[in-house]
Amino acid sequence: SSGGAANDGAAGGGSDKITIGFSQVGAESGWRTANTKSVQDAAKKAGVTLKFSDAQQKQENQIKAIRSFIQQKVDIIAFSPVVESGWDTVLKEAKAAKIPVILTDRAVDSQDESLYVSFLGSDFVEEGKRAADWLVKEYQGKADPVNIVQLEGTTGSAPANDRKSGFADVIKGDPKFKVLASQTGDFTRAKGKEVMQAFLKSQPKIDVLYAHNDDMALGAIQAIEEAGKQPGKDIKIISIDGVKDAFTAMSQGKINVVVECNPLLGDQLMELAKKVKKGESVERRIKTEEGVFTQDQAAAALPSRQY
Ligand code: AHR
Repeated sequence: SSGGAANDGAAGGGSDKITIGFSQVGAESGWRTANTKSVQDAAKKAGVTLKFSDAQQKQENQIKAIRSFIQQKVDIIAFSPVVESGWDTVLKEAKAAKIPVILTDRAVDSQDESLYVSFLGSDFVEEGKRAADWLVKEYQGKADPVNIVQLEGTTGSAPANDRKSGFADVIKGDPKFKVLASQTGDFTRAKGKEVMQAFLKSQPKIDVLYAHNDDMALGAIQAIEEAGKQPGKDIKIISIDGVKDAFTAMSQGKINVVVECNPLLGDQLMELAKKVKKGESVERRIKTEEGVFTQDQAAAALPSRQY
């Protein structure tokens, strides 16, 4: 950044130029769109060449993209794994080609820690716990059963697995909380709406919807309104992410609480990549800092939301 590359002391000849191959999950949600923009903007700002590939929520596409990055001899491979399992083979290929891998946003369940240098992203278990903490408080001192339906994220993905288990861990302490139905809505509005319609048909009494992301919650709101019920009142809604549309819905009383998940990982990723390229040691796990927002805070927070 100083422009003094020739005097840097590190290996010369333009070695401070970095090419990153980035394999993105897809464009399934508002969160994801913000994440993509953050990575692309940050690359530009940092003078990093970014080879961007959209996997359209398919693991096979991500594996293909990673193999193509290896062939192109990029300096760093970064990717947000659509699901947790099944990465060892391709990550071993990257390792054999001596290309460091950075995980962004989502984790892999590989036992071999040498297959990636760092994992930058949120703590999804914590997010699930925060969602449940709100629920426990909301129904404190009440004995009646609380009927919950859950819209899960993409099956096999880290955020779906972890948000489900974090939530379950907290509510299991009180038997009045009952998860009556739980199904994937694949993190999209369309599927969130579709699955909520099915829940409304099959479940005579729903008190709470726990959606693993805002897009599914926003789709579900449509289904609830079309069924003649009031989202946020007849059915309380807990959501995760904190995109602007969710804050708008919350300020209208349609979502009760949003657990924040920060998609703006671009700058941190570029910084990490530069360190890795220079051979500096980096932290293996970098967690993003996030909050929880309730209805009374929604209107005030809305104008300053950055995604
Ligand atoms: O991995 C992060 C999750 O993926 C976000 O919560 C969701 O909106 C996105 O699709």
